[in-house]
Amino acid sequence: MEGNLLNQHIKEIIKEQESDQAYYDWYCEQQEKYEEDKPPQPFDAVVSQPYYEDEYTTIYNEDCLTAMRALRPHTILTDPPYGIAYKDKNEKVMIGDYANVLGRALKIFYESLSDDGSIFIFTSFKLLSDWLYRFEMYFKMNNLIIWEKERSTGLYGGSNFGYSYEMIFYGSKGGHKLLEPEDDVLGCRRVSARKREHPTQKPLALLRRIIEVSTPQNGLIVDPFMGSGSTLVAAKLLGRKAIGIELNPKYCDIAIKRLTSNNLFDELNEAG
Ligand SMILES: C[S@@+](CC[C@H](N)C(=O)[O-])C[C@H]1O[C@@H](n2cnc3c(N)ncnc32)[C@H](O)[C@@H]1O
Repeated sequence: MEGNLLNQHIKEIIKEQESDQAYYDWYCEQQEKYEEDKPPQPFDAVVSQPYYEDEYTTIYNEDCLTAMRALRPHTILTDPPYGIAYKDKNEKVMIGDYANVLGRALKIFYESLSDDGSIFIFTSFKLLSDWLYRFEMYFKMNNLIIWEKERSTGLYGGSNFGYSYEMIFYGSKGGHKLLEPEDDVLGCRRVSARKREHPTQKPLALLRRIIEVSTPQNGLIVDPFMGSGSTLVAAKLLGRKAIGIELNPKYCDIAIKRLTSNNLFDELNEAG
C-alpha cells in the first residue's frame, strides 16, 4: 500500500475503534448507573411475586441478573439475547451489549447452579470467540452441541453458505452426568416463521430432548432469558418443573398462552 493510502487506511481503523470505544464507555456508564440504583441482592433474596404459576411452571417478569440470585436450578437451559439494548420505562439501559451482560450473567448463573447440574446456552458462530472465553471462566465446557436445522435459511444469492445449524454450549461445574447416551449433533426442524411467536423461538422437540438426557425427573430447570416460554413448555411436556424469567411482559403473556393451551402436544406435533 502506498504511503497516503496506508495512512488513510490506518485513520479509518482508528476512527472505527474510537467509535466502538465511545459506545463501550457509554454502555458501561449506563450499566454502572443501573447497578447503583439496584445493588446486587444477596443470595436467597426473595424474588418478586410470580407473574404466572401452575403445577409445573413459574414465570417471573424480572431481570434475570436479580432473580437468578434466589434460585437453585439443576439445569439452566437458555437462549440469551445476542446484543440488543433493552431499555426500561425511564429509558435506562437494562441489558444489552452481550460482552458486558453475559460476563455478569454467567457469574451469577455459576453461583446458582447445583454442583451436579448442567448449563446449556444457545450461541452463534459470530459470538463464539467472545462467549466461549467467558463461559470457560466459570464452567467446565463439556461439549459444543450442534443443532442441525434440517433446512437452511437460504442461499443468499451465492454470497454465503445457507445457515443450517446453531451451536449450544453444554457445560457444568464438573459433576454432571447424562442420564442416557446421546450424540453431540441433534437434528430438529426449526420453527417456521409462520408459527413463530418470538423471533428466535426454539423448537420444542430439541429442548425436550436436551431436558430428557440431562435433567432428572425432580431436577429444577430454569430459563433466565425465557422469551416465549419454549423451555417451559418442553419441560411441562415431560412433567418437569421449570422457571422462566423474562423482562418483556409481552413474551410472558405469550408463554402463558402456550402453557395453558388445552393440548400442549399439539404444538409439539405441529412444529416445523
Ligand atoms: C433470544 S430470546 C429467547 C427466545 C426463546 N428461546 C424462545 O423460544 O422464545 C431472549 C429473551 O431474553 C429476554 N431478556 C433480555 N434480557 C433479559 C434479562 N436481563 N432478564 C430476563 N430476560 C431478558 C428478551 O426479552 C428475550 O425475549
